[in-house]
Amino acid sequence: MDNKAMYQLSYGLFVVTAKEGEKDNGCITNTVMQVTTTPNRISLAVNKDNYTHGMIMRTKVFNVSIISEQTEFELFKHFGFQSGKTVDKFAHFTDVKRSENGLYYVTKGINAWISAKVVETVDLGTHTLFIADVTDAEVLDNTPSATYAYYHANIKPSASQETKKGWRCKICGYIYEGEELPEDFVCPICKHGAVDFERI
Ligand SMILES: Cc1cc2nc3c(=O)[nH]c(=O)nc-3n(C[C@H](O)[C@H](O)[C@H](O)COP(=O)(O)O)c2cc1C
Repeated sequence: MDNKAMYQLSYGLFVVTAKEGEKDNGCITNTVMQVTTTPNRISLAVNKDNYTHGMIMRTKVFNVSIISEQTEFELFKHFGFQSGKTVDKFAHFTDVKRSENGLYYVTKGINAWISAKVVETVDLGTHTLFIADVTDAEVLDNTPSATYAYYHANIKPSASQETKKGWRCKICGYIYEGEELPEDFVCPICKHGAVDFERI
């Protein structure tokens, strides 16, 4: 089996935000898709280790900010390379507004946002698949949405721009510095395994 076939699947990229009490948080995902139009429903897969996961599990509400091609790597670093467990991602992040459900959506590097209410969850082992009704949505501009392929080709720093030596996660760009990558290594950022790393 050629696992590289999975790279040919086309994905969008999103900042998924949640709010629990006074705590706002969000993470990058590539797993939002519309699954039915009547009712208007989306699905979202979130790793159980993500802080955002527990927030959505408990509150059953989330927002999706759809990342456009006019975005910067900084957005991915901010929401995808650090966890709300240790950082307040919204402490100094000003490119946000609140939708009617009280949750943040991102306003820069985003072409639309969606509010959603969870109606069902599916336990997928490492992840939970959330099935959710769309409760609100707005288009901000018509810049094309960034696909995962676009992210790899145009947003993520390329290997030649890296000065570090070791192994780079082809999925999120995380770098493991060391000569040998352990076979059972799991990326601390996107949770993909050693098979998704390349030597740099
Ligand atoms: C390009 C990219 C795509 C990602 N896709 C997903 C995804 O689909 N599902 C997921 O659970 N995490 C995904 N992640 C990882 C989370 O964004 C990351 O683990 C984040 O730090 C979790 O933050 P939190 O603990 O504050 O929720 C992705 C990260 C990047 C950079």
